[in-house]
Amino acid sequence: MVAPYLERVDTARWYTNFGPLVRELEDRLEGLLASVGAPSETRVVTCSTGTSAIDAGLAALQLPPGSRVLVPALTFPASALAIIGAGHVPVFSDVCPRRWQLTPKIARRVIAEQRIDLVMPVTTYGRATAVDEWDQLTIDTGVPVLIDAAPAFGEQSIGRTTSVAFSFHATKPFGIGEGGAFVSADPELAARARIYTNFGFVDGVVERFGTNAKLSEYHAAVGLAQLERWPALLRRRQRVWTAYRRHLRGMDGVQLQSWPTARAPALLIVRLVADAATVAARLADVGVHTRRWYVPTLVDHPAFAPYVPADPKLPVTEHLAPHLLGLPFHTALDDDDIAYVCDALERAVTIEEPPRFVAASTELATALHTKRVAS
Ligand SMILES: Cc1ncc(COP(=O)(O)O)c(C=O)c1O
Repeated sequence: MVAPYLERVDTARWYTNFGPLVRELEDRLEGLLASVGAPSETRVVTCSTGTSAIDAGLAALQLPPGSRVLVPALTFPASALAIIGAGHVPVFSDVCPRRWQLTPKIARRVIAEQRIDLVMPVTTYGRATAVDEWDQLTIDTGVPVLIDAAPAFGEQSIGRTTSVAFSFHATKPFGIGEGGAFVSADPELAARARIYTNFGFVDGVVERFGTNAKLSEYHAAVGLAQLERWPALLRRRQRVWTAYRRHLRGMDGVQLQSWPTARAPALLIVRLVADAATVAARLADVGVHTRRWYVPTLVDHPAFAPYVPADPKLPVTEHLAPHLLGLPFHTALDDDDIAYVCDALERAVTIEEPPRFVAASTELATALHTKRVAS
């Protein structure tokens, strides 16, 4: 229930600038992260968006301008926009064919071949990445790591040296409208990130570059209300995931991302043998609306062309991208919806002959179309 929190905003007449609700939300998020093993010094710096949480992390790291940041080509454009916005150079890497992620192994290979000043792995579609291995990479190579974990709150751990940026955008598992958090076990890094979010102010003067990336009290109110129902939300997502897995496991021409836990992903993306655009069109015909998350990949966005080498050498990314398709995945789906989507998918991936849809219930198709994310 968000109303009691909103009443507190009204009563206190404190609307932003690190008010009591923002501080309470940060304390409670720190408590939650500690309860799942975050290092004891872990600090949460809330931000106005997930993108600004990455910006804050990049600013806090104080890398020299023009630093070279390794980032997977298979990600949401915000990862590269933040790098360029901070005055650095994105170096696009390939991903692991099973995890669809930039892994420590890939990063080590690139670091051995060329200068890399920061690694920015991405929790592709919400899949956590092994933070101990990233901490070890920093120990071995001296290269810091900032994880863009925008879709992975509740899934991604915090490292001893590896810091993490989360998004609380409405489309994410922990959605509050717009919001995010930079999280680090290094209190100095967290303090510098905080300064960045408040115009670079220290004792009333702008000590270094910053911006306004503060979370408002209204967003914190939604965040506190979301935290109350977080365990229930996770259970509901889990139910949807379990139902999907039952249908998708073993389906011909459909492969799931390798996942380190039994927990639900943030987004449900399948890798098809067939062309994803063709299948998406066939599904749309029967009322199943899909998304091509992270496609086009970063190297195909005009804004990033200046950073793309003539031969970007991204065989896995190039092979994956045309075959990745996001299925409806939200807590308002019931078992019949999921059975309908999976049945339609199974038919749509049969490329050789046009799919023969059984008398698709118009009612169900319309219901799927109009259902809204209830998380
Ligand atoms: C991988 C990744 N990075 C960054 C972002 C940006 O987060 P926000 O929309 O909260 O700014 C997103 C959001 O979709 C994302 O998926």
